[in-house]
Formats: sequence, structure tokens, C-alpha cells
Amino acid sequence: MPEITVSLPQHSYQIEISEGNISQLGDQLKQLKLGTKVLVVSNPEIFDHYGQICIDSLENSGFEVYSHLIPAGESNKNLQSIAKIYDSALAHHLERSSTLVALGGGVIGDMTGFTAATWLRGINFVQVPTSLLAMVDASVGGKTGVNHPQGKNLIGAFYQPKLVLIDPSVLKTLPPREFRAGMAEVIKYGIIWDPELFSQLENATNITSFDEIDPQLLNTILVRSCQAKADVVAQDEKETGIRAILNYGHTIGHAIESLTDYKQYVHGEAIALGMIAAGEIAIQMGLWRETNGNRQNKLISKVGLPTKIDAPLKVKEVLEALKNDKKVKSGKIRFILPTKIGSVKITDKISSEVIKESIMQLLNQR
Ligand code: GLY
Repeated sequence: MPEITVSLPQHSYQIEISEGNISQLGDQLKQLKLGTKVLVVSNPEIFDHYGQICIDSLENSGFEVYSHLIPAGESNKNLQSIAKIYDSALAHHLERSSTLVALGGGVIGDMTGFTAATWLRGINFVQVPTSLLAMVDASVGGKTGVNHPQGKNLIGAFYQPKLVLIDPSVLKTLPPREFRAGMAEVIKYGIIWDPELFSQLENATNITSFDEIDPQLLNTILVRSCQAKADVVAQDEKETGIRAILNYGHTIGHAIESLTDYKQYVHGEAIALGMIAAGEIAIQMGLWRETNGNRQNKLISKVGLPTKIDAPLKVKEVLEALKNDKKVKSGKIRFILPTKIGSVKITDKISSEVIKESIMQLLNQR
């Protein structure tokens, strides 16, 4: 069973990846010597598919198990939902030794982690991600939180799980569009960290859906992506430096998401567009070869992700939205720019003309 360690000074943990391991959740928690009470947090659809398997496994290992469901969707990622999880925690008398299990995608993982970080000043927390994006990104690294009406993820805490348990077979129920969106983050790891992963994606026959991808390749993708994330987080848990490279494609990506009211593009699609723009900026600045930019963009198309913005946005409003991003530091927009396949640099020294040019290309206005 591939096992990856996220090595941190005070709270290292394992990422376990293997087919069918969701039914060993109880054994895993027992091995970690976690307390007897477990609250599984999920959404109704995911819980319908995988809730019972988790509960049976936990009960068979002697845990006292409760569940709490939150309607699916980013619009429920708020403090009102957290208050309801607190009510469940109180009703079931969760203690410091108790555990919250996040069974779902990034929204469930972020909210469950935030509840675990704050209930009784911190209780145990285990991630069981069910989307590709949550498997390769959101479930690893301890970013937890909710949205504020004025902005995404403005309320949160760094709080690491005790375990991340990834069962690739649960991806069979993931909508194909969400699978492709998760692949955007996988491509991201290829560009920022792992050239071998990038080549494997380039050489693969089909990477567009769970049904068509070679299961061995899917396993490799999960292992290499999680290893990349673990390596980066181990060097910079609280994002004071290198961890920012995980935001490759996110500067312009977030602006596109917010300008289209989080309705037109799912996160991974917006990140794909952001990576195309960041690649173009790097080429314009002489940091990256055009051939590498073409390789990246070809891979994005091969997955079936968008390569142009299909919305009536204006360059000016995209530039304005960039200024409101969390990544703005002392008024300067910070970009992660590729220098090779597998290597990036963080910079805020980019002329607004170059940024504008890359956005015009995305909008097909050049
Ligand atoms: N998703 C970016 C990070 O975890 O830092």
C-alpha cells in the first residue's frame, strides 16, 4: 500500500492510498489510538454512496459513530454550517480524544478541519477525500476554513489531519467534469515540481475520465501528486515561503472564478485558464521557453479543460479583480511563473502590460 509521510516537526501523518481502503477506516483509526467517539461529516450524496461502508468499518473496530450531513456546495461553506457541526459535537458529547472524519470533497474537508481545529480547542481529524481535487490537494497540508460573504476562505486555520485515507475506487461516482477539474491540479504538480509526472501525463493515452484512465496510471498520479504536496508542505507548513508555489495558476484563476460568480467554472477549470495565462507571462518575460508553454497548454486541452475564457469579461475588470486577491502583498500582484517543466519562481516584478497581454490572449482579444 503506497504510504506517503507528511513530515512536520510536531504532527507528521500518513497519506494512505489503496483501492478499497475505505473499508479499513476503522482499523486505521484504531492503529492511531484515537478515542472511541467519531463524528463522520459528509454531504447527503457522498454519504449515500460511502457513509455506510465507513460507519460499518468504524463500528466493527469498536468506535461509537455518529454522522452529520451538510448540503453539498460551496454556498454552504460558511460559519452557519460550522455552527451546526458544533451542535452535533455537543449533542453527541464529543471529547478532546474524539475524532471528526471528513468524508467528501474539498468543501467538506475544509469545514470539518476547521471544526476540528476549534472545537474544544482542537480535536482529532481524519480526511477521507472523495474527489480527485481533494485527494491531490485539499485534503493534504492542513488548510481548513470557510468563506466570508466578502471572500473565499477568509476564515480559517492551519490544522493538520491525523491521517489522509485515499481510496481511488470512490472516484467512480465523481462527475466526469469534476474528474477533469482535479486533473488541472495534477498538471500543476507536473509544472511546479515533478517533470516525470508531467511526461507520464503527456504520454498517457487517456486521462480524461475515471472510466478510461489506466488504473495504474491513476495510482501513480495520486502518489506523485500527494508526494509533491507533502514535500512542499514539509518545507513550509504555514505558507511563509515556498508553499506559495502551490498557487500556480491561482492568481488569474481566482479572478476568473470570482468574476463569473463561481458559477461558470469549477475551481480546476479556472486554474487551468490561470496556468495558461501564467505560462504566457513567463514566456513574455523570457523565463520559459515557448515550446514548454505549448506542451503545458496541449496537456490542458488533452484533459478537456478550457484554454480560453468563454465569458463576456473585460481585461480591465480582470486586472481590477487581481488586485483584490489574497496573494497581493504590499499592493503588488504576486505570480508563480514557470521556468522549466518541474520548476517555478515567485515574483511580483511583472509589468501590467505583460499581465494585460496574457489576459487578452485568454479572452481571445489578440
Ligand atoms: N491548495 C494550496 C495549498 O494547500 O497550499
